Amino acid sequence: MNKLFGLLCFVAIGLSNLTAQNLNFNDSWKFFNDKAVGAEHVSFDDSKWRNLNLPHDWAIEGPFDVKYNARAGGLPFHGTGWYRKHFKMNADAKGKVVRLEFEGAMYNANVWVNGKFVGKRPYGYIGFEFDVSKYLKYDGSDNIVAVRLTPEDLSSRWYPGAGLYRSVWLKIDNPIHVGQWGTFITTPTVTKEIGVIQNETTVVNKSGKDETVTVKQEYYNSENNLIASEKEELTVKANGSAVSELYTKIKKPLIWDLDTPHLYNAVTTISKGNNVLDTYKTRFGMRTIAYTKDGFFLNNKPVRFNGVCIHHDNGSLGSAVYKRADERKLQIMKSMGVNAIRTSHNPPSREFLEICDELGLLVQDEAFDVWKMKKVPNGYNKFFDEWGERDLKDMVLRDRNHPSIVMWSIGNEIIEQKDKKNGWRVAKRLNDYVKEIDLTRPTSAGFNNYSGPYDNNMAQQVDIAGVNYKPTKYSELRENYPELALYGSETSSCTSSRGVYHLPIEKYKTHESKHVTSYDLIGPPWAYPPDVEFHFQEQNPHSMGEFIWTGFDYLGEPTPYGGKDNSTNGYWNADWPSHSSYFGAVDLCGFPKDRFFLYQSQWTTEPMIHLLPHWNWKGMEGQTIPVYCYTNCDSAELFVNGKSMGKRVKGKDLTELKVNFLRYEPKTFQSKYRLSWDVPYESGNIKVVGYKNGKQILEEQINTAGKPAKISLSVDRKEINADGEDLAYVTVRIEDKFGNLCPNADNLVNFSVKGAGELLAVDNGNQTSVESFQANHRKAFSGMCLAIVKADDVSGKITLYAKSKKLKSSKLEITSK
Ligand code: GAL
Repeated sequence: MNKLFGLLCFVAIGLSNLTAQNLNFNDSWKFFNDKAVGAEHVSFDDSKWRNLNLPHDWAIEGPFDVKYNARAGGLPFHGTGWYRKHFKMNADAKGKVVRLEFEGAMYNANVWVNGKFVGKRPYGYIGFEFDVSKYLKYDGSDNIVAVRLTPEDLSSRWYPGAGLYRSVWLKIDNPIHVGQWGTFITTPTVTKEIGVIQNETTVVNKSGKDETVTVKQEYYNSENNLIASEKEELTVKANGSAVSELYTKIKKPLIWDLDTPHLYNAVTTISKGNNVLDTYKTRFGMRTIAYTKDGFFLNNKPVRFNGVCIHHDNGSLGSAVYKRADERKLQIMKSMGVNAIRTSHNPPSREFLEICDELGLLVQDEAFDVWKMKKVPNGYNKFFDEWGERDLKDMVLRDRNHPSIVMWSIGNEIIEQKDKKNGWRVAKRLNDYVKEIDLTRPTSAGFNNYSGPYDNNMAQQVDIAGVNYKPTKYSELRENYPELALYGSETSSCTSSRGVYHLPIEKYKTHESKHVTSYDLIGPPWAYPPDVEFHFQEQNPHSMGEFIWTGFDYLGEPTPYGGKDNSTNGYWNADWPSHSSYFGAVDLCGFPKDRFFLYQSQWTTEPMIHLLPHWNWKGMEGQTIPVYCYTNCDSAELFVNGKSMGKRVKGKDLTELKVNFLRYEPKTFQSKYRLSWDVPYESGNIKVVGYKNGKQILEEQINTAGKPAKISLSVDRKEINADGEDLAYVTVRIEDKFGNLCPNADNLVNFSVKGAGELLAVDNGNQTSVESFQANHRKAFSGMCLAIVKADDVSGKITLYAKSKKLKSSKLEITSK
């Protein structure tokens, strides 16, 4: 949570008033991507180093190369990276408490200030801060902070990114101030009539003598109207801390819920007499959560998780935090019908959680992918003994005021599941750490082993068991462990490449194209089509729902290519250049794959209809093409060039899917979740008409496209903020002269930007493309690609030009204000 006086661009720091300052420290860093002997020293010459602003991920700059591990994205994320920043402190700051806060540093951070070592933090996904008061010079001369990062090869099962990829802050406080992550706001009672706010605020006293201060809590609604306040006197021992606990009742609270994510702000003021010593802002929501063995409840209403697992990278932008990138990602997920996110397998950025609060998404905040027993040679297991407790507790402390967070996960597919003797003990210890801080939310973990963790008492150590890829066991678990609360923490793991269809439909392990068909039935041995999970969720109402693997494609883990299974150590480069995931319902650009619509048909009620595949099958005239329709209509009728191919009724007309996962016996699955027709191919068009209550309400048509003729551009928002951070996502389509998408087009598109913005990145969602994300050109993949434009920090028009040989070019205007 933030100091009230934030976001000053840093030049020199003066303190004219008594209250605290929180200064954004992202600008004007020096960077060097290699070992640099003596770079921690003041006298080190960094004048030749690169100048840049944070957040920064050096690995996304590439190049992709087979000499890097495809499992981690085939990008250069390991090695050494140094960052240095020069700054001046004003004399007024002397005697204050000055802290340097890193919201996340990937990986293995060591920090020096003016040549003195101030501390380290190995885990890249957690924020940390150091009190640097005593290392600074306040006489107007140069101060230097130096940060060394050393992410290791073979340290991650996915793309971690590398660098100071989240924000850095310089915080200047009076000796008496609200501690780091020092407020904890809960809402034990929330009804339509009354809401109770419980506010525990930790006040730190570094003044050297006991002090009695006034702690005031003021509550503001989203219109910034003061709605309640409360205060008390608090004595804080010299060089100690004390906790103020205040309860405040408010009438007719605006409840934080999935469709109405109302937020409030608490402003905490610490004062002594008329002197304000600190002001601290905490955003929170009024809501209650509960669970039983039969379900999860938000504000006393049952909610089933229509969830997705999400890794932290934003495709072509890598891991560097851009709030808009996360916002768009989560908006796309919401439009699929998603109501819950699992932050696999690590604490996400602050911004990510803020957006979940704002959009009304439930979050499972996950701490770890490993404990002590390793998954990859240089993983977090190395640090678990020394840092595990601290990292877990810091996640809870950092994130506990987000109304979106409804569950803490202590780990994913932890190898200790197999440790019959001690696995449960570690789980108990971690669970206890969480409970020391937060008793208001349940704990969980994702278990993939069956029936190990249930039999050896490990699953019973957390409040709610997460079951990875065992939908067939939900009922057995209920019978054997009737008290166990559970949900599918990872489900389906179906794979596909956007716009790619392989005929005839068959289940294969890999395909020579290094792509995966979008008929939505292929996956690794533990995977199964979404339909199977839908079915078992319906059969097991005690399950709290599911989190699919995954909402979005992500960099790294290109299963089924490159690695045989999850336990393969070493590089995954046998199928190079495949280097990013096929698991997403949405591709790396944010373009929906067909699976997006399958989930939408199940998870939303607003009428929708979707048809696949494309209708460009030259040379296959007369041959059978399976046509699938994903819809939440009651029935649908397919037409080929105007001829009806028959009506299909949802729930009655089933589609047979070849399913073959683990020990699932039938080997085929009769899906009531998709409608299908086998039709002989003739060029022209296919059209599907959707009916609800007997009435025709929707239709969707796909035409056979002609030759690529033009580029068409569209943007997610025509107006963006001139803040140097905001992004416009431009969808690029290769179309024939009638405006039909050319589904196989791979034309190279060249981009240029004029005006108040710059081209930040390009992509096309092709998991095998090793073109640079930072180039000013991109080939289309299945007829589409993406250009991301970043606003400058001055208002103006931004024009994006897109050109391609033999195609009519196009331009698009964006306003930046
Ligand atoms: C799970 C694992 C995920 C991902 C997924 C792919 O076992 O927890 O991180 O690897 O498999 O299917």
